[in-house]
Amino acid sequence: MWNKVQETVKYIQETTKFTPRYGVILGSGLGGFADDIEILHSIPYSDLPNFPTSTVEGHEGRLIFGKIGQNNVVAMQGRFHYYEGYTMQEVTFPVRVMKYLGVEKLIVSNASGGVNPFYKVGDVVLIYDHINMMPEHPLRGHNDERFGPRFVNMSEPYSRNMISKAKEIAVSLSIDVKDGIYLGLQGPTFETLSEYRMVKILGADCVGMSTVPEVIVARHMNIECFGISVITDMGDTQEGVGNVSHDEVLQAAKAAEPKVRTLIKELIVKY
Ligand code: HPA
Repeated sequence: MWNKVQETVKYIQETTKFTPRYGVILGSGLGGFADDIEILHSIPYSDLPNFPTSTVEGHEGRLIFGKIGQNNVVAMQGRFHYYEGYTMQEVTFPVRVMKYLGVEKLIVSNASGGVNPFYKVGDVVLIYDHINMMPEHPLRGHNDERFGPRFVNMSEPYSRNMISKAKEIAVSLSIDVKDGIYLGLQGPTFETLSEYRMVKILGADCVGMSTVPEVIVARHMNIECFGISVITDMGDTQEGVGNVSHDEVLQAAKAAEPKVRTLIKELIVKY
């Protein structure tokens, strides 16, 4: 893994001569953030040595390198989900590459189903903690100490500093945000009503199929993380439950996207 990561990093550095400080992973329906970046380079995943190859046809993922204000950013347009069949090592490989390109802060966005009764569709949630209920752990197996320690402290997976800065920005721009705990399940099915109830009983506010592996691997390497989620459907109310579809998720995410884009952009400029 170490050699593969270094090989990919070397290829990118030789191609771009660029050192990003911020990494951004864009969630479903939230890819428009790429338009906020003054793009200097862009590399399709298929050109990158050792990168997982996209399984979704006509949906070529790419790494974007560029600037937000004065700040150097690398963004993943298109992420790898465990439910697509990638291994946990493949899902998190780009985060390892980001680290050795120079990334110190990682911003991850996603769409999720809400189970907190005070949430509604379209809400923007700042993730302050997560519950890992994915069936496999990305750090299982031999630990390479060059990346980080065997036993990773997870008392602050999401940076309190970045959350409080984001809250200040939200207040100053009159953007309504909630905060919450994200529970990660493998998918690809949406939850049954009983599973949504379980998620709520377990103490989470929302549930989704991504983010947790990437954040674990980022914390392994001591990258500061910020997670932001758009509530695209409500799993724990009687009304409308059972009707959630991927189209609905994408539509709700698209509707909330301007708020998420603004928050991420301002966070990068001001933090
Ligand atoms: N469950 C899991 N993942 C999701 C959901 C959901 O309700 N909405 C968007 N992603």
